Amino acid sequence: MRIAIAGATGLIGSQLTALARKEGHEVVEIARETGFDLLAADPSGTASLEAALAGADAVVDVTSTGGLLSDQETLDFFTGVARNLGHAATAAGSARTVTLSIVGIDKSPDYGYYVAKLAQERAAREAHAGAVVLRATQFHDFARQMVEWNREGDVTRVIDVPTQPVDTSEIARVLLDQATGELPHDAELAGPRPERLVDLAERYASHVGSDVRVVPVDGPASLMAGAMLPEGDDVLLRGIDWATWLAAQPRG
Ligand SMILES: NC(=O)c1ccc[n+]([C@@H]2O[C@H](COP(=O)([O-])OP(=O)(O)OC[C@H]3O[C@@H](n4cnc5c(N)ncnc54)[C@H](OP(=O)(O)O)[C@@H]3O)[C@@H](O)[C@H]2O)c1
Repeated sequence: MRIAIAGATGLIGSQLTALARKEGHEVVEIARETGFDLLAADPSGTASLEAALAGADAVVDVTSTGGLLSDQETLDFFTGVARNLGHAATAAGSARTVTLSIVGIDKSPDYGYYVAKLAQERAAREAHAGAVVLRATQFHDFARQMVEWNREGDVTRVIDVPTQPVDTSEIARVLLDQATGELPHDAELAGPRPERLVDLAERYASHVGSDVRVVPVDGPASLMAGAMLPEGDDVLLRGIDWATWLAAQPRG
């Protein structure tokens, strides 16, 4: 199959690209690094996107903002990319689009990033008739990102919320199954165990020998109440737990 991957150079996109190629699929890599700005106002950019998607059976969106933006900028990014990709996939005659989203985003009107991801899902469905969505929980790497991104001097502030993180290889697996039509519908995916993000951050810092002090802080009320946790019998619970992931990370 020919599969276009938007965000192919990112954390999930690179794993998905490698997995798809390993299983014999042809991959079209879409990212600014490969010459496609999915938010470009220049119409010639859109034309070249449609040309790149020609013959693609599926288009997967694993793009991300690449940094902390305002709520409005985040909303504009995710909805703009979803619309441009969805319309180009429709014009190219692709059977499916697949969007990577997050478990619990419909329970968090008090968290701008989740409001933007929910709007992204809607925009993807409006722009392409064959749109499906994968909602995943936090990546195992999320605790590392929280420690590194929120660090100020010798302190890092981490929101005190429950989470059930999942290994990124499992996300790539389910996305590919949705792209090929093996799993022809929306799905939710989580790892095997509920954890506390602050606890994971402390264990990660200790594992890499960092002297940073993890300070728990309040997050949006919905997240503190457990919005990020999976719910219901249909959730796919897959992959290694966080402790197993941590044991495989290099020590500092
Ligand atoms: N972090 C979590 O725990 C978690 C959990 C569930 C779901 N998610 C979702 O997972 C998705 C992927 O996250 P990630 O960490 O894999 O992202 P990432 O590593 O930051 O990669 C982002 C990708 O998007 C591309 N990109 C950014 N702006 C672009 C633009 N204007 N045009 C074209 N491509 C653009 C980047 O390439 P260039 O820079 O070259 O353009 C890169 O390939 C996100 O949507 C996120 O919401 C995250």
